[in-house]
Amino acid sequence: METIDLRSDTITLPTQDMRRAIYEAELGDDVYQEDPTVNRLQEESARIMGKEASLLTDSGTMSNVIAVLAQTRPGDEIIVGSEAHMLWYEVGSASALGGVVIRAVPNEEDGRMDLDTVEQTIRTENIHFPHTTLLGLENTHNRCGGAVLTPEYTSATAELAHRRGLRVHLDGARIFNAAVALGVSARELAAPVDSVCFCLSKSLSAPVGSLLCGTRDFVASARKWRKMLGGGMRQAGIIAAAGIIALEDMVERLAEDHANARRLAQGLARIPAITVHPDRVQTNIVMLELPAGISTSDFIQRLGRQGVKVGSPGGQRVRAVTHRMVEAGDIDEALKRIELVATEMQSEAR
Ligand SMILES: Cc1ncc(COP(=O)(O)O)c(C=O)c1O
Repeated sequence: METIDLRSDTITLPTQDMRRAIYEAELGDDVYQEDPTVNRLQEESARIMGKEASLLTDSGTMSNVIAVLAQTRPGDEIIVGSEAHMLWYEVGSASALGGVVIRAVPNEEDGRMDLDTVEQTIRTENIHFPHTTLLGLENTHNRCGGAVLTPEYTSATAELAHRRGLRVHLDGARIFNAAVALGVSARELAAPVDSVCFCLSKSLSAPVGSLLCGTRDFVASARKWRKMLGGGMRQAGIIAAAGIIALEDMVERLAEDHANARRLAQGLARIPAITVHPDRVQTNIVMLELPAGISTSDFIQRLGRQGVKVGSPGGQRVRAVTHRMVEAGDIDEALKRIELVATEMQSEAR
């Protein structure tokens, strides 16, 4: 039985072209900024995001914490959505390393935060209060089922933040999914924000790496923070070489992943034991919900024994992510196995 792995788009392996590019990459010492392949990737990334400069980092997590370190001071407060990756899955790094207080504003199901609530959450000047100095957005929004933020929403949010003296960081780990889904450029999505990061290692299929983009001064400061975190890599061109292919060849095909996610959601909607909202599936993430009588961890284990791997963001929710290594036929096969397990477990629960 072939395994269909829908846990994450991070499981994608590098393509043959990437492996070849890694083998042939022209290299230098990137801590001296002398790796020509890294320099090329950084220039290209800055151009694509419409920013002055960019920096290759080890991961999305590293990019996000550097964005905090470079744009806040210990004791400041930052605002992120209640479902933000920065809040849930980055080991509290902004607080532990940056010394900032993280304040969460509720995320709506579509990944947005209500702007009146954001405005009320920003601190006014008061001897007792920390300074609110940074607002974090996420596009696409992982825990909100891959929801996209439009350029209009991003502009309105940044306008509010800037008017109140905050900077804005966009966690765009999957910004190209948002761009493809909305039919706009990543540059348009990133234009209103001060810093933006994106990942090479998710749907774009490169093995490692994230780019953090912003002004030249911001990137110079980010480079120093990266060094402090031990993220200054030497012949990092072997990573960057695959990243260049990712940007050149892997963006447009994301539409296939989105179509497969819709196919999956529509199929899941026909399974009585499962609740899913196909109309909410905008990119490559599908969230489904199990009834109260079915244990999520048992479901994931039993499905795993049927050769379908999925994950859970908690509670009764299960997450399935489409990517380059699953095709429409795999989705149909996964649906059969999911139906089998869900139906069995529902009848056992009665
Ligand atoms: C929205 C978002 N931001 C950041 C990250 C962190 O990326 P990494 O796994 O490269 O640290 C992820 C990873 O899934 C993510 O989904």
